[in-house]
Amino acid sequence: MSDERKGWIQIDDLAVTFHANGTEVRAVDGVSMNVQPGEFVSLIGPSGCGKSTLLNIVAGFVQASAGSAELDGKPIKGPGSDRGVVFQQYSLFPWLSVRKNVEFGLRMQGVPRSRRESAARTLLGLAGLLAFENHYPDQLSGGMKQRVGIVRALATSPQVLLMDEPFGALDSQTRVVMQEILTNMWQQFRISVLFITHDIEEAIFLSDRIYVMTARPGRIKAEIAVPLPRPRTPEMTASPAFVELVQQLKALIREESLAAMGSELKDGGLTGFGVKVGPHGVEEMV
Ligand SMILES: Nc1ncnc2c1ncn2[C@@H]1O[C@H](COP(=O)(O)OP(=O)(O)OP(=O)(O)O)[C@@H](O)[C@H]1O
Ligand SMILES: [Mg+2]
Repeated sequence: MSDERKGWIQIDDLAVTFHANGTEVRAVDGVSMNVQPGEFVSLIGPSGCGKSTLLNIVAGFVQASAGSAELDGKPIKGPGSDRGVVFQQYSLFPWLSVRKNVEFGLRMQGVPRSRRESAARTLLGLAGLLAFENHYPDQLSGGMKQRVGIVRALATSPQVLLMDEPFGALDSQTRVVMQEILTNMWQQFRISVLFITHDIEEAIFLSDRIYVMTARPGRIKAEIAVPLPRPRTPEMTASPAFVELVQQLKALIREESLAAMGSELKDGGLTGFGVKVGPHGVEEMV
């Protein structure tokens, strides 16, 4: 298999059960999904449905209770430099400069100084951060930190990039810019991406395919292909095809969010809160 065909994630009939404080939590159940080499795939679903658990399975941080998870046809047994991970929290080393942060994985691999410096500079240039190579993380904005996080994850040339709500902590304007930067970088690297988000527009803008998960225990509820051409541009978000996808995904997620919040809400919570409101506020439950 040539290098460009690497980064194939295949998950079959996967279940993960956590044991904590004497109780069992089945986080995901019967999940089958895949990411093809070079494909950008998003996972979307209600809070607690097992998205991070699935990503952690692929990262090798969590073990399956049943079923299988493979990367390029081999069972995933633990973390590896073939997978880069970016979390919502900026997990940069505060005591290292931006460039040293990016170089870190390469240093661990024993790459000589001059080679890792030039690799880090090239990547920082692509992310528009070269001028900040000697800054420290606490001197950067949230968006810049997360760009460093992405660049750092890419530095060891992984076949797979795993991103767990990477832009969740950013304001909406920064987020849109980050989406453009990410889609441009992905276009150049063409590595496989598994991306978690709660943001429907973000999932559509970035992805080739989107898996919608059910409420916990998470299963795959729907698989939606995004037929928008590449490169993606901000103008596309106003196109009829985009707007239609937003509606379709919103309906799917709404059903699951209601399920996740339990039956109380379904049984009347949304048709009125069952309270009598008088001049002094809530007077009684009716
Ligand atoms: N290490 C763990 N030990 C015990 N339970 C866990 C552990 N990790 C996750 N869980 C439970 O598994 C379920 C799925 O969690 P997970 O973090 O995968 O959900 P999520 O879809 O990523 O949620 P969110 O959208 O809020 O990030 C939750 O009920 C959670 O409490
Ligand atoms: Mg999560």
